[in-house]
Amino acid sequence: MKKIRWGILGTGSIATQFSSALKALEDCSIAAVASRSAERAEKFAKEFQIEKAYAGYEALIKDPDIDVVYIGLHHTEHKEMAKLCLEHKKAVLCEKPFTLNSKDTKQLIDIAKENKVFLMEAMWTKFLPATKRIKKWIDEGRIGKVLHIRASFGFCFEFDYNHRLFNPDLGGGALLDLGVYPITYATYLLNRLPDKIYSSAIMGKSGVDEQNVILLHYNDGTLADLSTALCAQLGSDALIFGEKGYIKVEKFFKADSAFLYDNNLQCVEAFKEPYIVNGYEYEAAEVNRCLREGLLESPINPLQSTLDVMNIMDEIRMQWGLVYPQELK
Ligand SMILES: NC(=O)c1ccc[n+]([C@@H]2O[C@H](COP(=O)([O-])OP(=O)(O)OC[C@H]3O[C@@H](n4cnc5c(N)ncnc54)[C@H](OP(=O)(O)O)[C@@H]3O)[C@@H](O)[C@H]2O)c1
Repeated sequence: MKKIRWGILGTGSIATQFSSALKALEDCSIAAVASRSAERAEKFAKEFQIEKAYAGYEALIKDPDIDVVYIGLHHTEHKEMAKLCLEHKKAVLCEKPFTLNSKDTKQLIDIAKENKVFLMEAMWTKFLPATKRIKKWIDEGRIGKVLHIRASFGFCFEFDYNHRLFNPDLGGGALLDLGVYPITYATYLLNRLPDKIYSSAIMGKSGVDEQNVILLHYNDGTLADLSTALCAQLGSDALIFGEKGYIKVEKFFKADSAFLYDNNLQCVEAFKEPYIVNGYEYEAAEVNRCLREGLLESPINPLQSTLDVMNIMDEIRMQWGLVYPQELK
């Protein structure tokens, strides 16, 4: 079996974690890495025994020996780099949030379709064995109709205007970085879009949301109560309440376990499965599978669901009046 050859854009925190996961998969290899700095690319290549180290992203994208490019760059770089990859017929796995807004996401989807190239948002939570089990419990009706989802995701980061989390020029704010997880989670588990969206945010010194609450209202009787923060340790647990019971998930975004309870608060089933590496191997394996099967998108994380979540985030930002400098150009 010919190995799928990955190219890695960026040498930062997530590119490092993702590359560790890729190294554990037998049906692929990391063929090249690219950084803005030759020194960083070489250091990264040495760490992961990668043959080619490029100074500059474009050289990697143009390398004919690369099948798929992983984009582990800041949010604001995603669109242009993904566009360039797709135009060069390279399959793309792009970090979350996919782009700054739905207009850019739609544009990438159109380019991928025109060029008949695989494209996927790196929403790794969807591919975790624990998430798959939770989805199965729900779809099998183990908790009956889902009535209420509660999910929070928040950390206490020290304010730093120049950091990507706070800097508006780099797409800062809790919503784009963290909020994308619970919104994706709720819409994925419910398998439908909300009828109404309510939200509130506290804007910080740099003008981006440092914390927010989001309420997704479904007219057929379901509510999702979601909150994210850059300035408070909210934990990252999820509770999914149904007519017949509920599911408890610790650290839902990276869960390796889940617990099913009945309405008498008795745990009736526990799921626990340690990762093979660090959790990113499951999304990578899905990309490899899709490429081998000639799929242009993943049935688990289709492009329409990425677009749906971006539309929800656009609506939420509109409610707050949060516009990024790139959107004013
Ligand atoms: N899936 C997940 O669990 C997860 C976790 C964390 C982050 N992420 C996402 O991954 C992306 C990167 O986050 P990260 O935490 O890895 O960030 P990071 O550590 O700061 O790394 C980002 C990389 O982007 C490159 N870059 C390009 N333009 C840059 C600029 N103007 N300033 C600084 N760096 C620039 C740099 O690579 P070179 O200098 O080598 O070119 C840098 O190493 C974000 O979109 C984030 O939302 C996902």
